[in-house]
Formats: sequence, C-alpha cells, structure tokens
Amino acid sequence: MSEINQMPREEGLDHSATLMREGYMYIPNRRKSFQSDVFETRLLGQKAICMGGKQAAELFYDRDKFKRSGAAPKRVRQTLFGEKGVQTLDGKAHFHRKEMFMSLMSEEGIQRFVEMNRDNWQNAVDSWIDKGEVVLYEEVKKLLCKSACRWAGVPLSDEEVDKRTDELSSLFESPAAIGPEHWVGRHGRNQTEKWIGELIKQVREGKLLTEEQMALHVISQHKDHEGQLLDTEVAAVEVVNILRPIVAIAIYINFTALALHQFPEQKEKLASGGNEYLQMFVQEVRRFYPFFPFAAARVKKDFTWKNYTFEKETLTLLDLYGTNHDPDLWDNPDVFNPERFKEKSDFLKYSLIPQGGGGYYDGHRCPGEWITIEAMKVCTDFLNNRIVYNIPDQDLSYSLVKMPSIPKSKFKIKHISWK
Ligand code: HEM
Repeated sequence: MSEINQMPREEGLDHSATLMREGYMYIPNRRKSFQSDVFETRLLGQKAICMGGKQAAELFYDRDKFKRSGAAPKRVRQTLFGEKGVQTLDGKAHFHRKEMFMSLMSEEGIQRFVEMNRDNWQNAVDSWIDKGEVVLYEEVKKLLCKSACRWAGVPLSDEEVDKRTDELSSLFESPAAIGPEHWVGRHGRNQTEKWIGELIKQVREGKLLTEEQMALHVISQHKDHEGQLLDTEVAAVEVVNILRPIVAIAIYINFTALALHQFPEQKEKLASGGNEYLQMFVQEVRRFYPFFPFAAARVKKDFTWKNYTFEKETLTLLDLYGTNHDPDLWDNPDVFNPERFKEKSDFLKYSLIPQGGGGYYDGHRCPGEWITIEAMKVCTDFLNNRIVYNIPDQDLSYSLVKMPSIPKSKFKIKHISWK
C-alpha cells in the first residue's frame, strides 16, 4: 500500500488578505516556494487546496472527484455569476443546461455574431473619427454590448446603451471588490436581472417576438432536465451569462491593442500571416495576459492523489493564470511568442486554460471561447489592417494584483482614421 503524505501547508489562520494582496501570483508564488503543484492553505475561514499545472487541471475537471455546488463565494454569486446559474450545477442538471448553451454556439451562430460585431466596429470607428481621442476600453464595452444584445435577441435602444453597458460591466469589474465597488456590482446585478426578467416574461406571453435561434428565445423556452421551464429569475441569470461575458471581452480587446503596441514586430507578421497567424496571435494574447486568476470547486468525495488526501467538501482552486505561465508546459512563458502555437495544437485541453479546461459538455469549460476568439480576431483586423491611430502618452501598465486586470489608462487612442 502507498503511504499518505501531508500536503505542503501554508501555516496561519487565514490567507484571504494575502490572496487579495498577491492577486494572480498568490498560487504561482506558493507553487514555486513549496516546489509543489498542490498545497493546502486557509481561505475565507476554511481549509482550502490550491493547485496548478496540467495534471492538476486534469484532476480538477474529473466530475467524479469535484463538484461546483457551494464552491462560488456569496459575493461572487451576488455580482459575477448570479444565483442558480449553470456555473453552480453538477451532474445531469449541469449537462442538460450546458447543452442549451452549446446549442447557441453552432458555426452559423458564431458567424452571425462575427457579422454583427463587424458592423458595430464599422459604425463605432466612424463615430471615433470625429471625436479626436477615445478610451478604447469604454468604447469597446459599448460596441460589444450592442453586439451581445443584437446576437441574443435582446432589444436595446440607442438611449439605453450607456446604462446597460455600465450595469453589465459592473458585474465583472466588481467580483473581488469590497466596499462601494461591490455595491455597484450588486446594484448592477439587480438591475440587469430585472430588465431581462421582464423580457423573458414578454417572450413567454408572446408579447415580444424573437427569432427561434436567439439566446433570449432559447433560454425563455428551455426546459430543465425534469421538463420544467426555468424560473424567470434563473432564466434571467442565464441570459445575463451570455450578455455579461461578451461585454467582458473588452478586457481582452484592451490587451490585444496593448500587444500590438508592446510587440510592434507582430504588426507585419499579422499583416502577411493570414488567418493562421491571426489565430496563433489571439491564442497567445489569451495565454499571456491575466484574466481570471483561478476557478473554484469542492471535493465531491474523499480520495487520494499523489499520496495526498483530498477530503470531501474542501474548497479547491485551480490556478488558471499560473498554468498558462507554467515553465513545465511553456518554453519561456513570459515571452510573448504566438509562434509557440505552431508546434502545439492550439486548443490544449488542460494547459491553455484562460477560460477553463477539460470538455465543454461534461465540464465547466467556457462555452464562449469561440465567440471570444472571433471577437478578438475582428478587433485585431480593425486595429492592424483597417484603421490608423496615434497612441498618446499614458500609463499602459497593468496590475497582477487587481482582479480583473485592465491596462491602467484603458488604452487611449487619437487621430483615428480609415486606412
Ligand atoms: C471574456 C472572455 C472570457 C473569459 C476570460 C471567460 C472565462 C471563463 C472561465 C474561467 C470559466 C469557468 C471555467 C470553470 O469554472 O472551470 C467560464 C465559464 C463560463 N463562461 Fe466564459 N469566459 C469568457 C467569455 C465568455 C463568453 C463570450 C460567454 C458567452 C457568450 C461565456 C459564458 C460562460 C458560461 C455560461 C460559463 C459557465 C460554464 C459552465 O459552468 O459549464 N464566457 N468562462
């Protein structure tokens, strides 16, 4: 029989404050100092396991070993996720709900998104030309809010764009916040769920006609694994689970613009490299820059792994950022090098995990990965091939502590014109 070892353990009563202080580097720093891909600590007043790397990701996405119910902290459910959404489900209920999300991500569905998003970029650029200087992050959030609503079949008047963009953004700009920012996020969640809840009622009563393939329609009519329509509140949470993250792609768009600025040699390669290079560039932006630091689950039942005990119900965090920068998986992980994806299949199931890992249907991997990648490609095409702009002096540094991280100045550009 193999012996049971004590997992490397961070001593002390609670390390939640350290996690907030070290942000994206909290888990990678300890993986390095313990020389171990797994360690025990205490977070949110309870024992927690943190782990990272390819093998740990394989373990984390094993549905027999981990579950999601009870994993997301309350303040995250009150802002980012909402209550009773797909993120919190397990087993049959999860599989069935996830199938619904995946049905929206057909090739035709993604193509429809790309075309709507291109239209919105075209109109946005036309409006920026007259403005002189714009803050790219703020402009792109509005543009993506329009694309998200149009794609999902959610009516949005021109007058509403600013308000709805602000509410949806507050959900992903606030989840780790305490104090006033957290309350802005909670207010945003109440407002968006009220707005979308009304629309769901109207669709169900036949007062609002939506095309059948649109997310608002699909989610309004979706029946759960027991054949019941979703409660209005839960259906609203799921529609927001489409709108919110599409607006959040603005963060990756900011990092895409930053990559073009920080690594100007990429511009020529992109201009001549066709779709193949574009795909590698976008994958490298997703690997290189920070977004979600980790994903959370709970141990489903007692088991041992590498001679360490995992006790039922233990909160477990998988290091997403650190795995994307793991020197065992990536040569020179801190060098921006899209060409690394030439040798590697670009959808590495357990090592390129900015949007989670594993399978889509049988796990919690992000169903929005294709939309994200395509939205980043459209943006790269506009910024690199279709428009010219100047970049005024500004603070483009980004933090590895504040979550989510966004370049400080949110990327100002000026003197914008078509090429
Ligand atoms: C902005 C870029 C995005 C990032 C960085 C991102 C990241 C993630 C991550 C880390 C997860 C959790 C994985 C896990 O728990 O194991 C996730 C799940 C999810 N994402 Fe995304 N995502 C993005 C865009 C999108 C888009 C565009 C959509 C929808 C159109 C979307 C919808 C979802 C949903 C519904 C889930 C829950 C899946 C489940 O629990 O089964 N995301 N995403």
